[in-house]
Amino acid sequence: MSKTKASLNSAPKAAGKFAVNAAAKITDSPFENAPSLTTPPEFPELWTFVLDELIPAFVKDRFSPQESWKNKPFSKEDVNFFSQGLIELSDFFTLDREGAKLPNYFTTARFRSSYFLYFFALQGAKFLTLFFKYPKAVAAAIAHAKRTGVMRIVDVGSGPGTASIAFLIHVLEIYKEKKKLPFEIQLHWIDRNPTVIKDGEAFLNEILAAFSHFDGSIHLKTEVRDWWKHPADFQYEASIVLFGNVLNESAQDSRVYLQGLAPFFSDPKGAGVLIVEPAFKSASQRVSQIRDEIMPHPIWGPCLHTQKCPLAEGRDWCHFSVPAKLPGSFFKKFSIKLGGVRDWLKFSFIWLASKDSEQEATIDPKENLVRVVSDQLKTPQGYRNQVCKPVQIGWFDQKNLQRGDVIRYSSERNDKILQPRFKTNRSRKSIR
Ligand SMILES: C[S@@+](CC[C@H](N)C(=O)[O-])C[C@H]1O[C@@H](n2cnc3c(N)ncnc32)[C@H](O)[C@@H]1O
Repeated sequence: MSKTKASLNSAPKAAGKFAVNAAAKITDSPFENAPSLTTPPEFPELWTFVLDELIPAFVKDRFSPQESWKNKPFSKEDVNFFSQGLIELSDFFTLDREGAKLPNYFTTARFRSSYFLYFFALQGAKFLTLFFKYPKAVAAAIAHAKRTGVMRIVDVGSGPGTASIAFLIHVLEIYKEKKKLPFEIQLHWIDRNPTVIKDGEAFLNEILAAFSHFDGSIHLKTEVRDWWKHPADFQYEASIVLFGNVLNESAQDSRVYLQGLAPFFSDPKGAGVLIVEPAFKSASQRVSQIRDEIMPHPIWGPCLHTQKCPLAEGRDWCHFSVPAKLPGSFFKKFSIKLGGVRDWLKFSFIWLASKDSEQEATIDPKENLVRVVSDQLKTPQGYRNQVCKPVQIGWFDQKNLQRGDVIRYSSERNDKILQPRFKTNRSRKSIR
């Protein structure tokens, strides 16, 4: 276990120029606490600055094969060079996978550099989308930090710290006017790969140097181990616990649940526990099954009920495609190398709330709110969408609905069919 310390106001580097977005909308769904997952999020401009200014310079400095390449602007040649590793890594990630079957990809420098240049932006955008969509959950993390004096962000399977750095940026954006943090921040990273943690730590120091006009202190604690084998003295109280694409690399082993997840789930504090996984079926259904194990439990989203998930098994699964104008000009260039500009964020997730937030997080069942969990499907009764109801799937035939919408469910007529008795022609590739 190692511990490093960085201080926001001790770093000498000047921050780049950036403007900041207008205040985030509280919700873009007419139903408070049940945000639509079909409308684009806004991203902090601090994030764009991180992607466009800090990452390219950091990657060139740390990963250039030749000294003469360093300290020069990130060029077209760099895009061509670094995209070779990216294409290979992207192929890995499009597979439905379990960690044991994969080489430990972060031991390879060209995969770590391409992760920074592309997947950091992509994964970070998924987390930032959810922070944007669930401001009350973020507020619960801040309240916990104010109460305890420390905002503790636990990042499980952290890689280079993507999820916790995204949360840090989100919090810095909130305090951008005051430029003073009312609590310490402690990032706590757990990953089995020491090399990617070291890269992440070096990158975090670059971020802190760039934001040195903020007054506050940030500590980084790192643990190199299997995330689910907690030491006896593991301290897991946190303002927020983040899992980013790590469960689908972990063995389907009951110890992972019992030893690994149970401590986080027993009594989460602050914003609770947010698990983000790829959109493909096995990853998503695993999240739903984990959810069912711990229900009833307060939940921020995406579920609007706390009874059994109807998509934890069977043909269909719960995942979202959020339209997004993704920031980052280099990210865009690398997206094109991978086949085209990205304008969707695809993922599955579950966000467990703490008991303290139960009232705020819970949707009153009398509201009859349901989430749309499919695209429009051709059925014998016409084009319809599946909606998530406790235990079973329902159907809804209002036009123009999209996966991720929230609607009030009132039609008894729609309630009859539990599962479709027809074949559809949907192609659902396993993509992140
Ligand atoms: C796809 S990366 C995701 C990194 C980061 N969370 C993100 O969202 O960008 C998966 C990470 O999980 C880590 N990992 C996989 N299995 C693990 C295990 N059993 N224990 C700890 N870390 C693990 C890998 O080393 C890698 O850093």
